[in-house]
Amino acid sequence: MISKELNDTFTLTGPGTDVGEVMRHYWQPAALSDELEGKRPVVPVKLLGEDLVLFRDSEDKLGLIGRACPHRGADLCFGRLEDNGLRCPFHGWHFDRDGQCVEQPGEPEGSRMHEKIQNTSYPVVERNGIIFTYMGPGEPPEFPNFDCFRAPDTHVFAFKGLWDCNWLQAMEVGIDPAHASFLHRFLQDEDPAGGYGKQFRDKAANTDIPMTKLLRDYPRPDISVEETDYGLRLIALRHLDNGKTHIRITNQIFPGAISIPMSREMIITQWHVPIDDHSCYWYSMFTSFDKPVDKELMRAQRLKEHRLPDYAPIKNKSNNYSFDPEEQNRETYTGMGLDINVHDQWAVESPGTIFDRTKEHLGKTDVAITKYRRMLRAAITDVKNGNNDALPMLNGVDPAQIFGPISNDTIGDRENWKEAFASSDAERREACSGWDAKI
Ligand code: FES
Ligand SMILES: [Fe+2]
Repeated sequence: MISKELNDTFTLTGPGTDVGEVMRHYWQPAALSDELEGKRPVVPVKLLGEDLVLFRDSEDKLGLIGRACPHRGADLCFGRLEDNGLRCPFHGWHFDRDGQCVEQPGEPEGSRMHEKIQNTSYPVVERNGIIFTYMGPGEPPEFPNFDCFRAPDTHVFAFKGLWDCNWLQAMEVGIDPAHASFLHRFLQDEDPAGGYGKQFRDKAANTDIPMTKLLRDYPRPDISVEETDYGLRLIALRHLDNGKTHIRITNQIFPGAISIPMSREMIITQWHVPIDDHSCYWYSMFTSFDKPVDKELMRAQRLKEHRLPDYAPIKNKSNNYSFDPEEQNRETYTGMGLDINVHDQWAVESPGTIFDRTKEHLGKTDVAITKYRRMLRAAITDVKNGNNDALPMLNGVDPAQIFGPISNDTIGDRENWKEAFASSDAERREACSGWDAKI
């Protein structure tokens, strides 16, 4: 458990807060490219407690600017998308993609007042279906060479979902390798052949054992955590009765992302981004080492579970996450259906939007959470001391040399599990023909 003060420090992310400042030193997902499809590419974005509007101008370039008009605060999401910018419907002030006011049509002829009106504006970059922004000081950092950024657009599918909880709760479920044996337990094993686009529905590597069975039969993983250039590597070993070991490698990417295997074909890189302190979005990039991703199928699977335009899950607190005690007896550990996103959503939302961590009791399997919080505290201190060069990924390592991260499930001999996971990952990368996945 931690003190109330430290819990506040870890969870609050608005401008000027400790973690808010740490997060602002990194690129953060602001929207899906999908959200700007359609006739009028203008969407509201709320990020780290700041209200913004994202739009595509007539040169096809993106702008992310303050949502409140600097004149008298009217909502620029209702702006007129014209003249290569966004025009406020109240008095016609016009803003370009950099937030500069370029015209005030009601002010006296020849007025140059507009030159001094600069709206908030943040740089944006579009990568494989996600629009990222940098809301921090100075020049934005370079992107690391992660698989989700190296792979071509054909091999990456991006999606997002809304969770009614603080970002840290969402992140911490992703660095908790023990929960998969319980929260995501299926009492029956589906045919793995029908598992495309779903997590834990594949067979465990080089075996015919469905992942669901393996997780169910071996609920006490031996978990260790290593520090890396990008954050943490989590190793969960499940020692099987036949003398072999199942090895699951997942990652924390500092500050708010994780990378995990989804199946042998795909990995997931997932950011947990604060909307405000009581809600967050997960943004996922699903990267394939094999065939191009079937985006239509993956989108359709997920749109069935989410409501647009805000990507709010259809199963949620208001309908008890569709909890069915009969199903809980027969089929799933949660009784909340087969979509594991719903299980995670219940796990992170039900403690309350900001969990009171003075009441928690962390066990041995929570080791990655403890290590992560230590890393976050160190980063807060570094930012406060102006020691930004000490932050993970910004500490002098060449981002172009930060690959992977390796996220993999494999099975090997108990003694040489290290070689087993390295060679199984290398094999998958060698075999990748759609793009150069070698590291
Ligand atoms: S409030 Fe926007 S132009 Fe007046
Ligand atoms: Fe989970």
